Amino acid sequence: MKKKLVVLSGSGISAESGIDTFRSTNGLWNQYDIKQVATPEAWAKSPDLVTEFYNQRRKSVLEAHPNEAHRKIAALENTYDVVVITQNIDDLHERGESQNVLHLHGNIRMAKSSGPKAENNYYPIKGWELKASDRCPDGYRLRPHVVWFGEPVPMIETATKVVSAAEIFIVVGTSLQVYPAAGLLDHVSKNCRCYVIDPATEELTLPQGFVAIKKNAVAGMNALFKELTS
Ligand SMILES: NC(=O)c1ccc[n+]([C@@H]2O[C@H](COP(=O)([O-])OP(=O)(O)OC[C@H]3O[C@@H](n4cnc5c(N)ncnc54)[C@H](O)[C@@H]3O)[C@@H](O)[C@H]2O)c1
Repeated sequence: MKKKLVVLSGSGISAESGIDTFRSTNGLWNQYDIKQVATPEAWAKSPDLVTEFYNQRRKSVLEAHPNEAHRKIAALENTYDVVVITQNIDDLHERGESQNVLHLHGNIRMAKSSGPKAENNYYPIKGWELKASDRCPDGYRLRPHVVWFGEPVPMIETATKVVSAAEIFIVVGTSLQVYPAAGLLDHVSKNCRCYVIDPATEELTLPQGFVAIKKNAVAGMNALFKELTS
């Protein structure tokens, strides 16, 4: 039986695909007040602004391509039973050929109802544009399938179980500032081998026993892939 390998990724894994991280200085996200575009209150006040913000993000995602780090994670499936837990709303893991991807914070290529029956009913968005006229079958306006700040994270329970069962755990490209995702590190089992790939590992608070690989995602995943498959 293949060993269970779990990856927890954050926006840093997509940086080398040209998508800004959340906290990068001068990055795109820095130009916006998050409260104006990524909260339920923002949607209630200005749904058009929020829709347009995510339409622009979706455009960037569609223009981007998976990088070697996404692909190396997918290639680990030849040797391991791999689950990717991503905080990213882009779909670069899927396009990099990973088969088992759990999106903690949603998927920007999908929409959901802004009405009461939102969860588990997701609608693919054709191209980059979600329009104000796009509605769910009950007539509610569609919103991006993204977990906004202040909203619950429905997938966290499943993710916690997946992490608890991991024999190898790789954390890549996340500042570990966003909860509950960052709390997943506390659920690894005693014998799990844990690695963290990030160019700023010294800025991260890591539990004991995590091996820090101070590299960008592509270089770090290439090195770790060799180690884990040789
Ligand atoms: N691509 C996306 O889908 C995307 C983009 C921006 C924000 N977000 C959302 O914003 C939240 C922010 O949390 P976060 O921890 O993911 O992002 P973050 O910006 O807080 O942290 C990014 C981390 O990536 C590291 N990094 C930068 N360049 C890297 C590279 N080339 N290779 C590897 N690591 C690199 C940084 O040192 C940092 O530790 C997430 O929940 C996510 O949902 C997603």
